[in-house]
Amino acid sequence: MKHDDLLRQGKAKSVYLTNNPDELRVVFRDDITAFDGQKKNVLQGKGMYNAMVTAYIYPLIEEAGIPTHFLQAVDANTHLVRRLSMIPLEVIVRNRAAGSLVKNYGFTEGHLLSPPLIVMDMKDDSRHDPMINDEITAALGIATAAEIAEIKRLALAVNEVLHKNLAAKDLDLVDMKFEFGRDAAGTIRLGDEISMDSMRLWDHGIVGASLDKDVYRKELGDVIDTYASAAKRICGK
Ligand SMILES: Nc1ncnc2c1ncn2[C@@H]1O[C@H](COP(=O)(O)OP(=O)(O)OP(=O)(O)O)[C@@H](O)[C@H]1O
Ligand SMILES: [Mg+2]
Repeated sequence: MKHDDLLRQGKAKSVYLTNNPDELRVVFRDDITAFDGQKKNVLQGKGMYNAMVTAYIYPLIEEAGIPTHFLQAVDANTHLVRRLSMIPLEVIVRNRAAGSLVKNYGFTEGHLLSPPLIVMDMKDDSRHDPMINDEITAALGIATAAEIAEIKRLALAVNEVLHKNLAAKDLDLVDMKFEFGRDAAGTIRLGDEISMDSMRLWDHGIVGASLDKDVYRKELGDVIDTYASAAKRICGK
């Protein structure tokens, strides 16, 4: 298969058409960005570590009965996925307070959220990804009420699988961001990636001991060393 037909160049991944209209190739690049793209760097190896973690996690999620887009890893930076019609929402599940929850609402960092919270942002960089609710989502025609309920059910189910898997590796899954889409049959599937760019992971029991993109956002240490050690702990190699 060729790599010619670029469908979309995102901030961190490039998406290519394949010979099969139902399948895409996703290439995880070494670009890293934060703060709506205002901070940008290229860090060699970053794409590979995120691809490795995503390729480890999606089969676990599928095994738990949650439909995903993932088909197979093609090489260290490239995945073959099902083409989805993406739903422009960032679905965030939070097990502990961090980031915007602390900044905007005054939670103490690390405050346990039980049951987990779901927050949804509209995925639109030009509007700075505003927080959205079910009524606005339905009124805009982004998703039906039934689809929103299904998205939330799936998001909580993914959180449960991952939280447990990572806790066994002494990693606290603080929060994570999901993107969902519809496949050709209209089934809602988990798309995009689950990686150090999209999860907050803390070393077990230590508030703010980040093993994720917060190390880049807040300049807490060497980003590639952090991604490498997180990938090793998650994937066990
Ligand atoms: N299975 C899929 N089918 C179609 N598009 C997908 C699929 N999975 C992910 N995408 C889309 O591919 C793009 C991935 O690129 P990337 O994550 O770099 O872009 P971005 O979302 O624009 O940037 P950022 O995530 O940094 O805001 C996103 O637009 C994402 O919604
Ligand atoms: Mg993205």
